[in-house]
Amino acid sequence: MQKTIELVDYEPSTDSSLEEIMSGLGRKQKELPCKLFYDEDGSDLYEQITQLEAYYPTRVESAIMRSNVSEIASLIGPHSAIIEYGSGSSEKTRILLRALDSPTAYIPIDISKEHLLRAACDIADEFPELDVLPVCADYHENLKLPEPDSHVQKKIVYFPGSTIGNFHRGEARDFLSRIRQILDEEDGVLIGVDLEKDVSVLELAYDDPEGVTAAFNLNILRRLNREFGAEFQLHNFTHRSLYNKEHCRIEMHLVSNLDQTVVLDGTSIDLAQGETIWTESSYKYTPDSFEKLTREAGFEVERVWTDPDQFFSVQFLKPSL
Ligand code: AVJ
Repeated sequence: MQKTIELVDYEPSTDSSLEEIMSGLGRKQKELPCKLFYDEDGSDLYEQITQLEAYYPTRVESAIMRSNVSEIASLIGPHSAIIEYGSGSSEKTRILLRALDSPTAYIPIDISKEHLLRAACDIADEFPELDVLPVCADYHENLKLPEPDSHVQKKIVYFPGSTIGNFHRGEARDFLSRIRQILDEEDGVLIGVDLEKDVSVLELAYDDPEGVTAAFNLNILRRLNREFGAEFQLHNFTHRSLYNKEHCRIEMHLVSNLDQTVVLDGTSIDLAQGETIWTESSYKYTPDSFEKLTREAGFEVERVWTDPDQFFSVQFLKPSL
């Protein structure tokens, strides 16, 4: 029998974004919020990125999960509720759910409704006993999460994919602190954290030879054209990714190929040739730098799993006492 899945929809709105967009484009270093990547096309492109040879994070994180899933499952224990921020296709979650002892509930939170519902239905089909409670929302905001019907022994926040890397350091700390507030002493966080490594490996991962990441980056302009009536000419911009050593982050930019003026919401935006719009940061950590961050947010690192090349880590955090 097919269960009905009830969606909690916070309608992560595009209106509130317009203000953010205009203020970002009004700065000296022009900026756009990276959550804008994830419209339906952008979410599809991101799925394609995760399959690329050059883009190691998804592949390596999945391998770490597969190699260590029994230990992870025993740390979590029975009757858990898995709360996943930015669930996307929930691929790694499947690895986890299959290994868990009688999990009670799965609460995926994602900004893209179509992807969220598809993933939630697939999970509900595969795990008929599981209470699947999807939430469509921007997880940067404080959310009231749905309550599972049955008993939950532990809440586990699952934050895979190094999504934490999209936050600037202070934001990452504040985000983890907010998560800390919804957790009790016995609960935990399972989080994927990308590690510092050779610049050439990093830069290739964010500028693949197939050009999928470039298309993903440029898609943000297509979205502004469609949803906000902007008139960006995509061929007047070039994708650029670079590793900023000082700040330990990949930065993605859109470089203006010429002097141009683009109108958005009645405002003219001037771009000089070579000027960039900064669209994303993807911070990389060392085990030490991440531990320091978690401590500031009220957590202790209980366990770190990594791959033989130390490209990526999966970490289990416990609330500090
Ligand atoms: C979804 C934030 C984990 O930073 O690696 C992939 C997004 N951007 N390629 C990342 C992304 C360009 C990705 N995260």
